[in-house]
Amino acid sequence: MSAVVIDGKAMALSLRAELARKAAAFTARAGRPPSLAAVLVGDDPASAIYVRNKGVAARAAGFDSVEHHLPASTGQKNLMALVARLNADPRVDGILVQLPLPDGLDSGAVLIAVDPAKDVDGFHPLNVGRLALGEPACVPCTPQGCLIMLRHQLGDLTGREAVVIGRSGIVGRPMAALLVRENCTVTIAHSRTRGLAEVCRRGDILIAAAGRPELVRGDWIKPGATVIDVGINRLPAGIGKSRLVGDVCFAEAVQVAGAITPVPGGVGPMTIACLLANTLACACRRTGIDEERLLAGRPRP
Ligand code: GUN
Repeated sequence: MSAVVIDGKAMALSLRAELARKAAAFTARAGRPPSLAAVLVGDDPASAIYVRNKGVAARAAGFDSVEHHLPASTGQKNLMALVARLNADPRVDGILVQLPLPDGLDSGAVLIAVDPAKDVDGFHPLNVGRLALGEPACVPCTPQGCLIMLRHQLGDLTGREAVVIGRSGIVGRPMAALLVRENCTVTIAHSRTRGLAEVCRRGDILIAAAGRPELVRGDWIKPGATVIDVGINRLPAGIGKSRLVGDVCFAEAVQVAGAITPVPGGVGPMTIACLLANTLACACRRTGIDEERLLAGRPRP
């Protein structure tokens, strides 16, 4: 049997269209659009593409988006000064500092310097702590996107066995915290986990965020499970060519899973849509505008 392929691209487009309507309503109420400031340090090509895509998506949805590109030689003091300026700027609703930072910069010190009320990545320790405690928090974008796809596919997640491969602060740990909040029974597996295949086979839900191309094989998956592939790995494919693969061997997994996200076109587009959602939420909280009522009385398209 072949799994349902979850169309993250289509889901992200529909979420972005709704956010564009909300951004227009916000702009009418606040007299300015919701605004995002992105900080990119250095010349990592993948980071540059991510930041550019985030800016393009934000502007397309009617948000203001400013990218601050600093050279790799930037010192900690100058980076902290930029973050302080963005914190103090009343027109900036959301701040993201693209990770990883170049060697020599202390990302922990930078992330703790971001105003938690503008922390659209949810990386500030205050938001990390709030999420861990099950309190309202800015939630990291990638796990938030994964959760929206899971809810769309499965509805209520209560009581499900969830296995998360990966324990990064960007995906694995916040993903596990979100799944606990959804009443799942959660296992965090990682590179030191013994019997990883067997652990994965326990999951009604399997989140692959290990950063290892096609690590998860078909026989690691419980038949009928929902598989969310967070990996984005570029593999050589002939002379001068490459192809993108996830952390799951899609060709094998699609024969066993009940539903699966593709790479590309799965988690990636949802991450960007969730960044816009977080920016709008921060903008509403900062201005005292009720997000729930932004579209009240407006005709649905
Ligand atoms: N690097 C990889 N993913 C992310 C993300 O979601 N946010 C930021 N700021 N950096 C990243």
